[in-house]
Amino acid sequence: MTDKSFWEDNPRIHHFQEVTSTMDIARNLARQECPDFTVVVAERQNTGRGRLKRAWQSSEGGLWFTIVLRPDIPPEMSYRINFSASLVLAQTLRRLFGIDAKLKWPNDILVDEQKIVGILSEMEMDDDKVSFVNIGIGINVNNDPPPEVPNASSLKKILGKNVPKEELLFAFLDAFESHMRHSDSEQVISEWKKHTITLNRHVLVVTIQEETEGLATDVDADGALLVRLDDGTVKKLVYGDCFL
Ligand code: BTN
Repeated sequence: MTDKSFWEDNPRIHHFQEVTSTMDIARNLARQECPDFTVVVAERQNTGRGRLKRAWQSSEGGLWFTIVLRPDIPPEMSYRINFSASLVLAQTLRRLFGIDAKLKWPNDILVDEQKIVGILSEMEMDDDKVSFVNIGIGINVNNDPPPEVPNASSLKKILGKNVPKEELLFAFLDAFESHMRHSDSEQVISEWKKHTITLNRHVLVVTIQEETEGLATDVDADGALLVRLDDGTVKKLVYGDCFL
């Protein structure tokens, strides 16, 4: 990425060449009471984690980071932060690069149906209050996504040139911080739905326990995907991997 002094000018940003996972470092910092909006960014992760216990390949050239947030919200509202992060990041990608960034439930960002961003979150509670919510974001920027991952792309591939990662990171962090401080979280899901490609499509949703196939009809106020099955019943899915 950039020289050392660049990162040292930004005291909330902890920059590493290589880590296990930025989620591990962020969790330790959060448990040591680091401030709201502390960011951990690494050039490489040797055990990057994806959703549903998958590995996340994190080679040089990608943007791999975790943001520590300390929102004053009830735990059952914390899912909204993932929707906010994906919504704001898609807006940032459209604004900076003019690409048609779309959202796929729950929090992927795709361009031409190819995934370029994945988001993973972890929350810890203190009594019944949120202690921290860590949002881990992986963006395929100047790296080549692993060939064994189907339907994945990178900004470099889409734009035909390398992209300045720091500019993207800082543009997103500014927009996300402003969104977290000023936006009405009630509006997040309805705004998110305007940019999704999941609705009114036939989907297969896979969790560790089961697979569900049907028509994706809505995302409800809890962020759950509503899927109409062949027998007409509607199933509410609160997590899973969605294939279109
Ligand atoms: C997904 O499965 O789509 C979520 C992928 C999340 C990857 C990011 S990269 C930064 C942070 N550190 C990790 O180990 N995972 C997240």
